[in-house]
Amino acid sequence: MKIAVLKERAPGETRVAATPETVKKFIALGADMAVEKGAGEHAAIPDDAYAEAGAALGEASEVVSGANIVLGIQAPDPGLLSGAKDGALVAALFDPFQKSDLVEAYAKAGYEALSMEFMPRITRAQSMDVLSSQSNLAGYKAVLTAADTYGRAFPMMMTAAGTVQAARVFIMGVGVAGLQAIATAKRLGAQVSATDVRSATKEQIESLGAKAIFVEDVEGIEGEGSGGYATEMSDEYKAAQAKLVSEHIAKQDIVITTALIPGRAAPVLITDEQIASMKPGSVIYDLAVAQGGNVEGSVPDDLVERHGVKVIGYANTPAHLAADASALFARNHFNFLSAFWDQEAGKPELDEEIGDAIRLTKGGEVVSERLKA
Ligand code: NAI
Repeated sequence: MKIAVLKERAPGETRVAATPETVKKFIALGADMAVEKGAGEHAAIPDDAYAEAGAALGEASEVVSGANIVLGIQAPDPGLLSGAKDGALVAALFDPFQKSDLVEAYAKAGYEALSMEFMPRITRAQSMDVLSSQSNLAGYKAVLTAADTYGRAFPMMMTAAGTVQAARVFIMGVGVAGLQAIATAKRLGAQVSATDVRSATKEQIESLGAKAIFVEDVEGIEGEGSGGYATEMSDEYKAAQAKLVSEHIAKQDIVITTALIPGRAAPVLITDEQIASMKPGSVIYDLAVAQGGNVEGSVPDDLVERHGVKVIGYANTPAHLAADASALFARNHFNFLSAFWDQEAGKPELDEEIGDAIRLTKGGEVVSERLKA
């Protein structure tokens, strides 16, 4: 069983899908590991470290030649995989709702595309969940980047020259990224508040010592859909939320938005008018920019200034923490494949629940129910 790891080719992608640690673990399972030269360069992993762990280093074509499994962060162009075994498994992020052409191309090439972002949110799959592992780091890094961009301090400081006020930080969307953002902003000494459409998050916000900003007494307050994800809210709720948020936002120094709804464009939570209501020098970090953005006017991979407010839209925030993001992503891959490893067959045999959830293509067809729906 040969497992191939290619260098990532997407612009701005710094992560790598295997580390020396996971290379060793796969070899212990009985796999042969092949890693493209330079694959770990941006994640501070030299080729020698992979070689010491037991991987064969080579050019892309050598690495994929005869591979049964290809691991990626972002799915490679299927053209890069020629020479891999027929029907090879490719586990990576496919961004399937936005990249239907890529999914079709995988079907046509006959590979079995396994979309890591479709990993079901069930207890036994938690250690395989790349959305969680990467969002957690993104929430942390967004706060640090916002703090660095903000021209004032986060904590209150009493000095001989006078008092520096604590920064007010507002987190919109309290999933994995939002919770980490709250914790990070608290650790930096800010005054933190947060909101979400799922009422279950109220207690979580308060348990982290932040203030919960919630719409009350409106029809359809419970915004939790299947798998713990948010659902689209009623118009009445959206209007009440916009009003509450408008009043709150005008008093904030930093806003981090993380709101996503699976399979749909991210909801717009901050309008241009609301940006204009903020103090000059305030900072907004839109973590949902790659899914269309929570902030009107945010630009992917750019920092733009609107009404004196800096709006940051780095599309791939985990890539700004390449070493940790790679280490966690690589472990997610290992936890996933090793959980299904059939020692006798020497290969993974996916079960129905997880296999059906993440498999996009097989036998030349697009097979994912979520994509057909
Ligand atoms: P996400 O990345 O899909 O969305 C981020 C947050 O934005 C969510 O909390 C969502 O409710 C919120 N949101 C959506 N629309 C909004 C709006 N209009 N206004 C304000 N907030 C809005 O969510 P994420 O981080 O993936 O987590 C969702 C849930 O799944 C959490 O409860 C998390 O704890 C749970 N989870 C469960 C796992 C498991 O059991 N294996 C693994 C990971 C997360």
